[in-house]
Amino acid sequence: MKQQLEEIKLHALTALDAAADPAALEELRVKLLGKKGELTAVLKQMGKLSAEERPVMGQLANAVRAEIETKLEERKTALHAAALEAKLAAEAIDVTIPGDEVTMGHQHPMNMVLQEIKDIFVGMGYQVVDGPEIELASYNFTRLNIEEGHPSRDRSDTFYFNDDDSVLLRTQTSPMQIRAMENTKPPICILAPGRVFRKDEADATHSPMFHQIEGLVVGEDITMGDLKGALVTLMKRIYGQDALMRFRPHHFPFTEPSCEMDMQCHKCHGKGEVDGQVCSTCHGEGWIELLGAGMVHPVVLENCGIDPEKYSGFAFGMGLERMAMGRLRINDLRLIFDNDVRFLNQF
Ligand code: DAH
Repeated sequence: MKQQLEEIKLHALTALDAAADPAALEELRVKLLGKKGELTAVLKQMGKLSAEERPVMGQLANAVRAEIETKLEERKTALHAAALEAKLAAEAIDVTIPGDEVTMGHQHPMNMVLQEIKDIFVGMGYQVVDGPEIELASYNFTRLNIEEGHPSRDRSDTFYFNDDDSVLLRTQTSPMQIRAMENTKPPICILAPGRVFRKDEADATHSPMFHQIEGLVVGEDITMGDLKGALVTLMKRIYGQDALMRFRPHHFPFTEPSCEMDMQCHKCHGKGEVDGQVCSTCHGEGWIELLGAGMVHPVVLENCGIDPEKYSGFAFGMGLERMAMGRLRINDLRLIFDNDVRFLNQF
């Protein structure tokens, strides 16, 4: 029996040393120490021993069990530590690896120019207001003195939402004049930038969606001189003291008299051609049209409940993309909407 116990011990210790994972250890524990285990089987034979032998063997058996248990614990701890070590190694994060570079963007060039323009007008006392892009035809046209049947109301130019042509994507920011005048009493001094929509083919100076900045000043004794003063101030602040501009007489249904303002083309410097070719930026004109303007038509004032005998006003609507093209020397309007980072990063 002594030899049996010695053998069990020897095998047990070798097997425990070889166990590779906690599951193998548990299997060994049951096999060695469990109710149907090897040690229990030996102990069951104790009854056959003599009275002198029994305590000696009992002691030996206990010693063997204790040794196996100690070894089991030892291996359990070792395997646990090894598993932890392996997990840590697998999940290791090298905090010294350089991070992924995050490139910071910046404001879109067109918005930079919008910000400059807003700053200039705010400095002259204008209030910046916002309005709907989906507009009623009565605001976009009728109350601006643009009668039914006027060519600009044509379905080939305007995006309508319904069959009776009463709701549309605003074709201009001018409806903001009506909204301002019906909401406030004079004096009124507002700037209304925003998107406008027209069924235009895109080319170097056109796009079906573009931005306008509407201005409206209504008060007592407002004159064309005030209009010119505001616009010349803007142009000099944006394009420099010797910026070349011109006013041309024009017609708009909602202003009388009306004019347009052009700026000398920044690409061909007014020549209309570059290297013997027609200038693609101004289509050979030498000038780029920036805005329409004029004195608010008395009918429009009346449409908004303002007495044209007492009050007068001026209004203007400028193309923001065109302003940005001149300011940043961009030759093709489509670049502003493409959002190619190689383009955007230049500003
Ligand atoms: N709304 C006009 C357009 O889109 C531009 C314009 C002309 C606006 C004269 C005005 C103005 O305020 O007085 O062509």
